[in-house]
Amino acid sequence: MVLEAIHYRRGELSILNQLLLPQSAQYETLGGVRDAWHAIRDMKVRGAPAIAAVGCLSLAVELVHKDFSTTEEVAEFVHEKLQCLVSARPTAVNMAREAQELEVVFREMIRKEGSTATGVRDWLVTKIEGIPERDIQVNRNIGQHGARHIIARARDQKVVILTHCNTGALATCGYGTALGVVRALHEAGTLERVYCTETRPYNQGARLTAYELVAEGIPGTLLADSAVAFAMAQKKITAVVVGADRIVANGDVANKLGTFSLALAAHYHQIPFYVAAPSSSWDPKLPCGSSVVIEERTAAELTHINGQRIAAQGIDVWNPAFDITPVNLITGGIITELGVFPAANLTAAMLVSKS
Ligand code: MRU
Repeated sequence: MVLEAIHYRRGELSILNQLLLPQSAQYETLGGVRDAWHAIRDMKVRGAPAIAAVGCLSLAVELVHKDFSTTEEVAEFVHEKLQCLVSARPTAVNMAREAQELEVVFREMIRKEGSTATGVRDWLVTKIEGIPERDIQVNRNIGQHGARHIIARARDQKVVILTHCNTGALATCGYGTALGVVRALHEAGTLERVYCTETRPYNQGARLTAYELVAEGIPGTLLADSAVAFAMAQKKITAVVVGADRIVANGDVANKLGTFSLALAAHYHQIPFYVAAPSSSWDPKLPCGSSVVIEERTAAELTHINGQRIAAQGIDVWNPAFDITPVNLITGGIITELGVFPAANLTAAMLVSKS
């Protein structure tokens, strides 16, 4: 069974509504950017790479259904739509980065002599359509680099991984990042077991990661978030591997709430802590974690389960969706499609590899 969060054919886009998983697997059509904005905001689709892909593909859907008179008109339309998509969720950098890169290459294209409105529109649609395949290839490379690094350190032992949130096929265009590393370890026959946290309050671990593990026949065990330190003490965890929504210049990482606590517990138990993410999650413009905008979500995610109130009436709620893990707690390294780097050296390594 191949799990796919996104279905795209020129002019048509649908997403697996992740709010309904695991009870029901229903695809929902997105007519364009407005629908995508709502689907991202409501977390029907989530995970940094999937958000970026769905956002850009929703723009491609609108572009193929629209005629333009001038290249400037296309540019203005594209700029407005991309800015709208970037505003849907603030913490993950991937959509903002994709938007910025598309606008740069698109403007170069427009400046070329003889460019026409239809020509640049079609060029942009084709460019966007390349995103899913590229993302899957990047994830496969992350999986290979991460698995090799972890296996080398484990010295022929089978490995036990602890992961958080959902970073698999459902959070990307396919294969996954941190869960891609788990998948690659499983494919190599070296994974003994993966422990996944429930990831309150949205339960990406219990609903989505557990669903992926069962669907793929990967040996997995679900844990309450509050069980992670004890699991490290009891379950011979080889390494912790999590994803990232944004990695800033000094190597601090913004990721799903609970990542910081996991890293602290891993540090106490001297268990290597890895972050697996595409190089597009790297944001050198922000100097350190405190500059990242952390999304805060509604109180109802904490006070209610399936519409049923579980918290005392009148209590105040703080519900940040992400936290910041300081660079010095990322002891295993940052696994990217280009290799595994010490977190503190990521910026230098990226600058070298991109030059
Ligand atoms: O709120 P979410 O579900 O979008 O948060 C997802 C995460 O924090 C993931 O770890 C991150 O986006 C990486 S997904 C490959």
